[in-house]
Amino acid sequence: MSPFQLTRTLPEDATDAALRSDVLRGLTVPQALDSARPGGTPIPKTLPPKWFYDAHGSDLFEQITELPEYYPTRAEREILLARAPEIAAATAARTLVELGSGSSDKTRHLLDAMPGLHTYVPVDVSESALRQAGEALIAERPGLHVHALIADFTAALTLPDTPEPRLVAFLGGTVGNLLPAERAAFLASVRALMSPGDALLLGTDLVKDASVLVAAYDDAAGVTAEFNKNVLTVVNRELDADFDLDAFDHVARWDTENEWIEMRLRSRRAQTVKITAVDLAVDFAAGEDLRTEVSAKFRENGVRGELAAAGLKLTHWWTDREARFALSLSMAR
Ligand code: SAH
Ligand code: AVI
Repeated sequence: MSPFQLTRTLPEDATDAALRSDVLRGLTVPQALDSARPGGTPIPKTLPPKWFYDAHGSDLFEQITELPEYYPTRAEREILLARAPEIAAATAARTLVELGSGSSDKTRHLLDAMPGLHTYVPVDVSESALRQAGEALIAERPGLHVHALIADFTAALTLPDTPEPRLVAFLGGTVGNLLPAERAAFLASVRALMSPGDALLLGTDLVKDASVLVAAYDDAAGVTAEFNKNVLTVVNRELDADFDLDAFDHVARWDTENEWIEMRLRSRRAQTVKITAVDLAVDFAAGEDLRTEVSAKFRENGVRGELAAAGLKLTHWWTDREARFALSLSMAR
């Protein structure tokens, strides 16, 4: 077996079909009012965040991780640097599966602490990120097998047959980009992939002052705004649409009730966007929002409870020195 394998778990046209279906579902919502909320807040049009990550979007995300306002990457790296030996000892993993692995940059701290690791399985929707990371890793670490999967981690995953025990890592706080119901289904599906003795390493960003959070998602240099608008470029290219990026403003708002940041694109004027490949004309009122991402922030008890509901027992909880971000380790119960 070559030390670097790349497996596409879905045919290319399945990605196209998924984008069409997400666009049809998310952009044709009737402007219903959420009657559960005081005043009846309108339910916005939505697009799922996984469509940010074409090659340019993956690159923009890497730039975000370096921004002075975007603390999660630095905070999680601090924890990994301090705790990787404990994680390696507690799990004795022979296979590391990483969901939403991106550049695998922080993962190197884990790999450094796991000299006995047999196989690394990065899983991502971004083929460009998987190729770049996988090729660099096998050059750096000649003994390591890298079996990359182009896959959607919210769909049923089939993992390659590799030595146990396995450590499944889900870093960066990406779990917060799933809505609560999606998160529950996702954690249950991760649990179903695990055998007794396997472990889950989960990165979660923590609730903190709203001004710090909003700044992290609305940076002064405008990189996050460009990342947000990249989803429109993806829809323009893949579905022959005519979104005018200058006709939308980037918005980041803290939702106190749900304890999540929402990224939105706000229409600057009344406009109609054509999405030719799905034969759709979408009307936006002036000031109307398209929600492109939620990024939930967590508390220790909430994480413990969500893991328990999925059949996982939290055994370790580590934060950075400023308690901005947490890494938890949990075991299949
Ligand atoms: N784990 C890295 C990257 C986080 S960015 C870090 O901590 O820095 C989120 C990553 O998840 C991106 O690489 C993106 O392509 C991937 N991703 C987002 N939604 C996904 C999905 N549904 N299935 C698989 N990968 C996904
Ligand atoms: C990948 N994910 C955890 C990032 C986040 O912070 O929610 C994506 C992101 N969106 C805007 N900036 C970064």
